[in-house]
Amino acid sequence: MTLPASVEGELERAEEWVAQPAPPCAMVIFGATGDLTKRKLIPALYNLIVNGLLPDGFAVVGVGRSQLSDDELRHRMEQDLREFATTDVDERRLEWLIQRLRYVQLDPEKPETFKGLADTLSQLDDELGTSGNYLFYLAVPPSAFDDYVKQLGDVGLLREEGESWRRVIIEKPFGHDLESARDLNRRIREVLRERQIFRIDHYLGRETVQNIMAFRFANGIFEPIWNRRYVDHVQITVAETVGVEGRGAYYEEAGALRDMVQNHMFRLLALIGMEPPVSFAADSVRDERVKVLSAIRPFSPEDVLRYTVRGQYGDGVMDGERVPAYRAERSVSPHSTTETFAALELFVDNWRWADVPFYLRTGKRLPKRVSEIAIQFKRAPLMLFRDTPVERLNPNLLVIKIQPDEGISLRFEGKVPGPALRLGTVRMHFQYEDYFGRQAHTGYETLLYDCMLGDSTLFHRSDMVEAGWCVVTPILDVWKALAPRNFPNYAAGTWGPKEADDLIQKDGRKWRN
Ligand code: BG6
Repeated sequence: MTLPASVEGELERAEEWVAQPAPPCAMVIFGATGDLTKRKLIPALYNLIVNGLLPDGFAVVGVGRSQLSDDELRHRMEQDLREFATTDVDERRLEWLIQRLRYVQLDPEKPETFKGLADTLSQLDDELGTSGNYLFYLAVPPSAFDDYVKQLGDVGLLREEGESWRRVIIEKPFGHDLESARDLNRRIREVLRERQIFRIDHYLGRETVQNIMAFRFANGIFEPIWNRRYVDHVQITVAETVGVEGRGAYYEEAGALRDMVQNHMFRLLALIGMEPPVSFAADSVRDERVKVLSAIRPFSPEDVLRYTVRGQYGDGVMDGERVPAYRAERSVSPHSTTETFAALELFVDNWRWADVPFYLRTGKRLPKRVSEIAIQFKRAPLMLFRDTPVERLNPNLLVIKIQPDEGISLRFEGKVPGPALRLGTVRMHFQYEDYFGRQAHTGYETLLYDCMLGDSTLFHRSDMVEAGWCVVTPILDVWKALAPRNFPNYAAGTWGPKEADDLIQKDGRKWRN
């Protein structure tokens, strides 16, 4: 793509820093035949190869319960990559990856199979030069996390000796509530040090999400207005058009609050709300993010009734097609009380944000796929223009679009051309694609690469996970105690239950739909 000359000049500085390949290592994927591996992890590794970020001394060990040969795994992964790669597949690069793949059959009930894994890794150190550095990716059901960690520890695979490192990436959901998250943290820390644990959240792998920090802290003009004096309220929306897509069994246990709010949405909230860190060292950044979550005003049972809304979709029409109700999805109870929509209003009780409402909402089977953060500023204090009462002015709005149109837009008032002084609302848009071209990525590239480098900035620390659970657990408790009587309460293809509109309208505001 050709970029405008001015843009190319501006980008030069950014290109001065060239990323180096990760250090030699073997990546061990538990759940090698699962969906995440084929849709995200293997395509992400491929993209890292394309960008020259994988080292020569590299191997991937797929681990699973089924009996498979190395060649069978290679064959599968080759087919999967051809289907799910985000760029054209180049045969030489594909071959490079395929030659570095191994399979190990492992049964968590049989500790000796973990010895087999240790043997394979040590052979790979000799054959491919992986240097005793291992990254274990646990893409397995959460109930198996601590068992795998313990078994890996028992065969010595988590012990770091000399220069070598051992790291574990743990997928969500991390716990089911505050108590279970604390318990899991406690158990894995019996075997691992915090710096070896990488709790992943794929939202933090997104460029637009990482850009929130660049936008806030690499520019001088936004920070002075980023507070309660200028901000009226913040809306965070993560709307999905899909239903539960065959994941009914998991979703029945999770629901929207656990699945999206407690993790992905709280990460966005933390990035918007945090103070400037003292440096970009992982713990400085994470310290600031956790402070935001810890400052969220706790929900009393009355607050839960007043400031939260839950919903479940009934059948409806999406893109002209009829889609079934949640209760009619596979592996979902016909009487399910699981929420597929959640909206809440919360407050971050600190000096920067006191009394500024943060409205969060997420749901499945909504009319549009959109993830965005909208920061609405206070109105101009006084209307100087004839015949335009101040209430009719549109307040300034800054929208950070995370997907699908990645970018940032600013809304403000301008004069409509003509003899009369009339005002019109206009927008300034920054589209990622216009400046940086379309990046073909899965969202996992940076996270995998950072883990290989040992940079945990974009991963969650135990205190962050627990702070998130602290906020939502009282909500879950009240919701559990009071079974919803009106489910399903929104039709697929609509913006959620009416109560969600009431939640924001009671404050004289409205959702951006
Ligand atoms: C996952 C949730 O973490 O995020 C899913 O479990 C959800 O329910 C998904 O659909 C959304 O991610 P993305 O990348 O499609 O926005």
